[in-house]
Amino acid sequence: MQTNLKGKNFITTQEWTVDELETVFALAKELKLARATGRVTPLLAGKTLYMIFFDSSTRTRNSFETGMTQLGGHAIYLSPDKMQISHGENAKDTASVLSRFGDGIAIRHCAFGEGNAYLREVARWSRVPVINMQCDIYHPCQILADYFTIREKFGDTTRGLKLGMAWTSAPNYVRPISVPQSVILMMPRFGIDVTLAYPPEFRLMPEIEAQARANAAAAGARFEIVHEFEEAFRDADVVIPKSWGPLLHTQDRGEALALIEKYPSWRCEAKHMALAKPHALYMHPLPADRGREVTDEVIDGPHSVVYDEAENRLHVQKALMALTM
Ligand code: CP
Repeated sequence: MQTNLKGKNFITTQEWTVDELETVFALAKELKLARATGRVTPLLAGKTLYMIFFDSSTRTRNSFETGMTQLGGHAIYLSPDKMQISHGENAKDTASVLSRFGDGIAIRHCAFGEGNAYLREVARWSRVPVINMQCDIYHPCQILADYFTIREKFGDTTRGLKLGMAWTSAPNYVRPISVPQSVILMMPRFGIDVTLAYPPEFRLMPEIEAQARANAAAAGARFEIVHEFEEAFRDADVVIPKSWGPLLHTQDRGEALALIEKYPSWRCEAKHMALAKPHALYMHPLPADRGREVTDEVIDGPHSVVYDEAENRLHVQKALMALTM
């Protein structure tokens, strides 16, 4: 356990040790029990979090805002069109001013090739910690919640569990690659064997796949990339079938949507869950494109833990904020 996390940015789990991440999970468990028993936890009384959303959100905005309320602090929802960012104010000026007022800055900025760079620039000038609420490369808060959920279901020893991260066809919009990238980076560090499945046009950033391979080797876990949907499910303890855009292949929206349409059979159905272990978890960060990337039978079925997973966003983020702000 590490107790010196005040002021530490959370932009990617790669910059946090396993020990530091374990501290987040320990506190998240305590805060979840506190909420269940009605115990108040004013750990951030008098503190303010600025939340800048360049992109839309249901879970992230509401879990951070509610989390700050439950910790006795205050969260302010900001969007660039209502800020001077819309008139060109740069990251340095925004970060320098907000961080003199408040205690944390959280940002969602998913534009490919821009989001993470913006977060890094804010972090460079901010006096207070910067939290990544999803960028073009990482969605670290989602993966904290995912791993916390896996621990709740399987216990604290996750070594040897098999997780399938599979691309799915959801042609209603082009989603970022930040969720699968964060999954393959973090899960092997906790001993989980990861199979990543995608059609050839949907590859992830080569440096992230290389980091995932290195993380797995260092932890004695397995990481493999396959191009058959079913392979992600075979004998799995956990599956995360989820869509993302062919962003390494094309930046053109029309071409991207056509490519997503090209693989309609990459859809999670009961027959796929039957390939996994009987106790396997079906996970999805939501929003899911019901009917296109997953059937109602699966997402509403006995394997699904998607609402536990969403709830855990609240608990892990409260822990993260209480430790860093
Ligand atoms: N999973 C997730 O980040 O959901 P939102 O896009 O609704 O915040």
